[in-house]
Amino acid sequence: MIDRRKFLLSSLAASLGVTLPYNVKSSVAPGSLSAAPGSPVIISTWDHGIPANEAAYQSLLSGGSILDAVEAGVRISEADPDIGSVGYGGLPDADGNVTLDACIMDPSGDAGSVACIKEIMHPISVARKVMEKTPHVMLVGEGAQKFAEKEGFPRENLLTPRAKKAWEKEKALKNNLSPVGHDTIGLVGMDKSGDIAGACTTSGLGFKMPGRVGDSPIIGAGLYVDNEVGGAAATGWGELVMKTLGSFLVVELMRNGAGPEEACREALERIRRKVPLDSEHQVGYIALNKSGNTAGYCLREGFEYALHSNGKNHLIKAPSLL
Ligand code: GLY
Repeated sequence: MIDRRKFLLSSLAASLGVTLPYNVKSSVAPGSLSAAPGSPVIISTWDHGIPANEAAYQSLLSGGSILDAVEAGVRISEADPDIGSVGYGGLPDADGNVTLDACIMDPSGDAGSVACIKEIMHPISVARKVMEKTPHVMLVGEGAQKFAEKEGFPRENLLTPRAKKAWEKEKALKNNLSPVGHDTIGLVGMDKSGDIAGACTTSGLGFKMPGRVGDSPIIGAGLYVDNEVGGAAATGWGELVMKTLGSFLVVELMRNGAGPEEACREALERIRRKVPLDSEHQVGYIALNKSGNTAGYCLREGFEYALHSNGKNHLIKAPSLL
């Protein structure tokens, strides 16, 4: 008899016109890491994921929901002035303004998002309010800022002296600034009863064109959660992720039987095949499935992700495609 997962995955691959470079016999792919059944799992991007994971874990321990936990986790990165790619301390756009993007998804599949919002320290919490208090999924720019202020979020200057200096230095070198890559935080968590939520927040590419929005606030691109299957988040050059709807693709591949590592790798294969790449381009995916298996994968060497699982919070070097 044909294995059903194998059949579904092969059918999906055929319909999408791709070949599967991996063996789909096992739901735990080689390289995917497993958690003990019934224990929380939190996975997030880069080394700033370590304190974010810890905050998420503590939130769960103190009785918070998995949604509370993922929000609490990424708020740590948003408030850290030493992270030049998220929230306060993020590099500004080409005009010197810090603009932020964020989104959140809960186990019911509900979602909220803000894009190109200024002077608000915690866009992830505004995204949650969009989800919980409006009939919409996404608010952008001035509308998002007005909504945030109405909800009691204070306006704050997010441009730190360090980020300002970096922008001024770049400006002194050339008038037309080129965007530079950066390290978004995406975090996906599962509580002990198996419910999954995710959050993603960023200041976007440094020195980006004013008005530019990346993948991070786009549901399905920077983040996707399906509580029946798992969740995924992206970091890196947002345009590549947006053109391939990367996090949704990772979750759909897992739905059809791929383990987290195979799913992340196949989503990166999609980028490699479909999108012209330059040497600046990096993308990293993290994924968590319903069984608590996790993985990360990146386009080029250099991406690390943080995993809190089985009581241990540690950094893992992701394998790379190129
Ligand atoms: N991945 C974040 C961005 O491109 O803005």
